[in-house]
This record gives sequence, C-alpha cells and structure tokens, in this order.
Amino acid sequence: MSAPTFLLRAASPAKSKADAVVVGLVPAPTSGRRKSGPRAVLAPGAEDVAKAYGRKLEPLLSSLGLKGQLGEATRIPTNGLLGSPQLVLVGLGADPDHTALRRAAGNAARVVTNCASVALALPADELPLLRAVVEGWQLGGYTFTQFRSTQPESDAPGQVVVLTPLARRKEAARLVEETQVVVRATEQVRDWVNTPPGHQTPPALAAAVAAAGAPLAKGRGATVSITVHEEAALHEMGCGGILGVGQGSAAGPRLVEITYTPKKPVAHLALVGKGITFDSGGLTIKPASSMKEMKSDMAGAATVVAATYAIAELGLPVQVSCFAPMAENMVSGSAMRPGDVLTTYGGRTVEISNTDAEGRLVLADALGRAVERKPDLVVDVATLTGHMVVALGDKVAGVLGDDATVGKVLESAATAGEPMWHMPIPEEMKARVTSSRIADLAQHDWVRWGGGLFAAAFLREFTGGLPWAHLDIAGPSFASGTSGHVTAGGTGFSTATLVDLARSLAG
Ligand code: BES
Ligand code: MN
Ligand code: ZN
Repeated sequence: MSAPTFLLRAASPAKSKADAVVVGLVPAPTSGRRKSGPRAVLAPGAEDVAKAYGRKLEPLLSSLGLKGQLGEATRIPTNGLLGSPQLVLVGLGADPDHTALRRAAGNAARVVTNCASVALALPADELPLLRAVVEGWQLGGYTFTQFRSTQPESDAPGQVVVLTPLARRKEAARLVEETQVVVRATEQVRDWVNTPPGHQTPPALAAAVAAAGAPLAKGRGATVSITVHEEAALHEMGCGGILGVGQGSAAGPRLVEITYTPKKPVAHLALVGKGITFDSGGLTIKPASSMKEMKSDMAGAATVVAATYAIAELGLPVQVSCFAPMAENMVSGSAMRPGDVLTTYGGRTVEISNTDAEGRLVLADALGRAVERKPDLVVDVATLTGHMVVALGDKVAGVLGDDATVGKVLESAATAGEPMWHMPIPEEMKARVTSSRIADLAQHDWVRWGGGLFAAAFLREFTGGLPWAHLDIAGPSFASGTSGHVTAGGTGFSTATLVDLARSLAG
C-alpha cells in the first residue's frame, strides 16, 4: 500500500471539502444525561460539526445507538449539513489518551473507503496525540496483498488532512514526517512477518534485509554498513548455536550484522533479534496447532533491522550495532538432536534437551558478537516462549533484564503505546541454566514452570554483564484478528519502542 500524504490544517471540520470527515465520540457524562438522550457526545475537535448539526445531533446519535466506546466506527451521509458529504463517527472511549486515539484512528481508517481525501477532526491538540492519529490511521489501513493473484485496487484516501490547532507549529510538521519513518518501519516488519516461510528462508530474508538497507548503505559518507555472514563464515567464527539450529534445513543459516554510525554518537545501542524463518520445533516437533503461525518466528530479527534503519533515517546521534541471526528450525536426517552439545560463539558449550528451544541458541551467538562491540546498552527482541504468552496474554510483551535497562525500555514502550510488562529472573534460574551434567550450560531442563524466565536467564549468560533487556514478543508479534491500528498477521510490535529508546538515549 502506498502511504497517503498527510497535511496539517487548523481549519474547521464543518467547512472541510474532503470526501469524508472523521470526528471522535466519547461517552456522555452520566450526570447530566437524560433517559432518552444520546449515550455519546462529540469529542473535542468536533465543536463545529456539533454546531452545524445543531438540535439534529442528539436524535441522530441516539438513533445510531453509539456509546462512544473504542471499536465503534460508523459512516453516515451529511445531507448538506457539512461541507463534506460523509461523516465518520469513531468511538474514543472514556479516556481519549494517545493509546485510545491510535486505536480509534486505526478503526476509522478501515471505514473510510472509496474516498480520495479525508479530514480527521480528532482531539489531536498535543504532539503525542497528533502522532498517535497519524500512526493509527496508517497502520490501521495496512494490507498485505503480495500473494493475491490479482491486486485489489486501493480505495484508501491518498490525502489525509489532520485538523489540529498545532498545524502552524514547525514541530508538528516534523513530527508527522518522523512518525511516518517509524510507521514505514513497522509496515516493513509486518510485510516480512507475513511473507510465507517457503518464500523467505534465511538466505532470502538476509537478502531482503540487505536490499532494504541498500539505499542507506550506498555512496561515500554512508552511515550504514551491512554484512551478511553465510555458512562458511559462521563456521569460521564459531557460531555453533546458529549452525546447530540451521543444520536440519535445506536452506543454510545466516547472520546479518548492521552498523549505523552517526557523525557524533552520544551513545551506543546494540540490538539483537531472533530470526527463525520457520520453527517446526525440530525433532522435538511441535503439534500442528502450535506450528501453523511459526513463519512469524523471525519477528524479532525483522524488528531490530527495521528499527535500525529507521534510527539511521532519522539521523539520531546514537550508534546502533544490529545483529540478526537467521535459521530455519527443521526436521531431517541432519537435524540437531536432543542430547547434542553445541559450542557457541566464544567457546561456551550448551547441552540441547529440546530442539524447540532454538531461539536462545541463535541469540547466544549473536549476543556474544554484540557485546564484543562494547555497547552502552543491549536489547534483544525475540518470539521466544509460549510461556510468556500464557503469563501475559497475546497483547503484552514481557521485559526482563537489569532494572535500569528494563525501566528505560518500559518508558519508551509507554511513549510508543506498546504494552509491556516487567518480568523477573528469579535467583533459582542461575542454578537451572548451569545444571547440565556434561556441558557448561543447559539449554532447557524440562521443569514445567517459569520457562520464559529460564530463557531470559540463559540469554543473560551471553550479555557479558552489560546493561541489558530482553523483550519476549511471542504474543504481541502476531495478531489473530484486526482491531484498532493492529491488523491481523504480523504486527510490527516493539519497532516504535526501539526507535523511541534510541531517541531517549540521544537525550
Ligand atoms: N517460537 C517459539 C515460541 C513461540 C510460541 C512464539 C508461541 C510465538 C508463539 C519457541 O521457539 C518455542 O518453541 N519455545 C518453546 C520453549 C520451550 C521448549 C522451553 C515453547 O514456548 O514451548
Ligand atoms: Mn521453538
Ligand atoms: Zn522459535
């Protein structure tokens, strides 16, 4: 989908000549509410629309039965009452903060079809709210049609006029531009996650990642460099984790390393992302129902790569070292076995007891490479465990690591509107990850409880004691249905958080 043009105007929504005008609805204050009256009222930003409708507004809202709840989005003809022929009423809920606006704008985007232009008269009178409207609108309208035999013609508005009192402020125009960089990164992650695994083996994903970054890496004075390590190089480097996981696949594993080096970096951030292009579980094979969405097991790699490119595009003064290990976890005569011992990058040995706990093995090598660069902060992103989904549901990511780094990530997540929750690494985990009788570390111990925490404790062994946070996005990286700005399939979850983290490190 091609991105619409966003324009900022301080104009009246009642006079707008756009093909549709979107206004917000909030629940009516219960105190002054009459029995037969509407249960919702127009939100700030729509005052002129309320005036244009006058006494017709109350009965209209009553008859539509709208409550001002999130999820509501209704399109009606204006019959000449407004400059625009159509009015879209979108529920914002009782607390229209940036999170609610992002969701509401996403819902609105899917209702406004067959229009060349649209005006958004939502309460976007502060910069974070304006950002949420732009993000929500564009992400909510995301589609993935590459694998349809006929391409549906997009009837999404090419021009989106955001009506806001901030329109004349320089920061507002800049914010919209920056927001679109982040949105495009999120869409890139969605595209990569949605691509079928047969079309996106590790070599194919590595090539796609390199192609996406090529414009940034081109020419003299380029600040981005991209290296794709193929199998022979991985052998030479001693990346036994990546090789072990990939050895059952007909498509060889890869490690993509990207560095972004701005002129005067004020901080150095390392990003590491799990890139399993398909996770069958290996010989410890998954049941069918757990395997069906495992093309999404490369979401972490897609996220750190897209975030790195976005940070470079924004020119943030933060050096980024990005590591994306890629492998396909398959069943075959050459597959890694339970009982095998792998030697990870740097020499530490790991006893395998469950080939389905593969993410931590590719991350071990990549983290080992990352800490060698001596970054100020290491963040890894991975669809690592079903345990985290059991604990937090499929909308919330777990964040584990040292308190200070976890705190920074949570702050950025709040700014980005991406729900995350601090999970602990209990002390007992240290003994569990070192419980192998024959190798340095145990990859897994078949104790049923705390598997997501065990996984983090295992990863911690490879962080060299640096400030570190681990994001387990197994739940929110993939959505079973569409709602708000989150569309079914790959979500791009945590891309915006990583970019904001770099922004906050930049000060
Ligand atoms: N890729 C899965 C985790 C996953 C589960 C991602 C659900 C998305 C949705 C991971 O490789 C895995 O299989 N984890 C195991 C770990 C266990 C063997 C310790 C799991 O969750 O069962
Ligand atoms: Mn697995
Ligand atoms: Zn996996």
